[in-house]
Amino acid sequence: MNIEETVEEGSERKRRAIANCREYLMPARVDTLKNLGIPLLIGRREGYRIWDVDGHELLDLHLNGGTYNLGHRNPDLMETLRDALDRLDIGNHHFPSEARGELAAQLAALTPGDLHYSVLTPSGSEANDVAVRAARRATGRRKIVALEAAYHGRAGLGAAAGEDEAARYFLSDYPDEFIKVPFDDLEAMDAALSGEDVAAVLMETIPATYGFPVPSDGYLPGVKSLCERYGSLYIADEVQTGLGRTGFMWGIEAWGVQPDILVTGKGLSGGLYPIAAVVMTKSVGAWLGEAGWVYASTFGGAELGCVVASRVLEICSDPEVLAGGRETAGYLASGLEDIRARRPFLKAVRQKGLVMGLELDGPGAALQLSGILYRHGIWAIFAGFDPSVLQFKPGLLVDRSYCDILLERLDAGLAEAGA
Ligand SMILES: Cc1ncc(COP(=O)(O)O)c(C=O)c1O
Repeated sequence: MNIEETVEEGSERKRRAIANCREYLMPARVDTLKNLGIPLLIGRREGYRIWDVDGHELLDLHLNGGTYNLGHRNPDLMETLRDALDRLDIGNHHFPSEARGELAAQLAALTPGDLHYSVLTPSGSEANDVAVRAARRATGRRKIVALEAAYHGRAGLGAAAGEDEAARYFLSDYPDEFIKVPFDDLEAMDAALSGEDVAAVLMETIPATYGFPVPSDGYLPGVKSLCERYGSLYIADEVQTGLGRTGFMWGIEAWGVQPDILVTGKGLSGGLYPIAAVVMTKSVGAWLGEAGWVYASTFGGAELGCVVASRVLEICSDPEVLAGGRETAGYLASGLEDIRARRPFLKAVRQKGLVMGLELDGPGAALQLSGILYRHGIWAIFAGFDPSVLQFKPGLLVDRSYCDILLERLDAGLAEAGA
């Protein structure tokens, strides 16, 4: 059978690509997206816009979790990468390297408190895996406490720390070692830590896949002081909340918490070269001074990625860029409040800077709105663990006219959804 016959819509180019993916790569995803009314095959991409290969233009409010925080194909980052390609390749991870050393020094300087050593990895999941290992090594304890509705990646120990169902699916859950607690509940956290046998609490600063519920003011500092009381470490998963997205360089800084380990990824890549990082205090990373090869990754800290990541960190930590992000957040907050007052389908807006979740009217309402907004020229994804919330993630460098078009399209989509 010609596999293209299994896909009905679009140009021949689109049908062929989707048919290949359905046949050889990801049949369940292709079918789900089709059922949601999102037949997207990304073609052109520039700034904060993407285009389906058949021409449909979309404002990208997903940014693949912040991967495109600085935009798609950011010209400055492209030039940085092109220039690096004239001189470098992935490098050899067994040896010291200028690019890796520079990036690690920069991470130590830009992360909160006395975070010092970095391990560079190819993905956020692997960074969380290393964070868990480092915490276990440093404390001599095995248990990890994480949130019930958490996403830390789908590989390694990061996956075990995430939602139980997916880990169980692959018989890769470790219920005795990974303890799950509800979000924003200090009593439950106290109970989980009080046995003094927990290596670390691993938490997203604002849980993305749970729809970005903003923690109450005392929660994160409260978790940190419980960690200190019971001898556990605090791992901040900043994969979605770092790099200026909350109005602070790192989301955790908004609550004045100094983590023992910080994990960053996604946007660190500039959307151009995969890279992620774990940054830890000297004492947590003491193993790096003892045993050179107990953790190693051929592609972790690929030199091309390091050069791009260094430039990403420079841009995101620029006070003017951070101030611009805060201004955009304020502008969007008032635009969204305006819309909310007129459109009851939008019940509330969760927001910390550019990290936003739109609470909608109905349990699966964000699934429906995602499909409607797609037709209105916005790509925004529902929260996997709470599909009544739409993740709404504008980029760090968007301008006013982009925001105006965005608000206009959102308003039209909400009008249709609530009709
Ligand atoms: C908060 C958080 N942590 C970790 C990860 C895993 O990153 P990666 O997909 O690069 O493995 C993700 C990915 O979505 C994430 O959102």
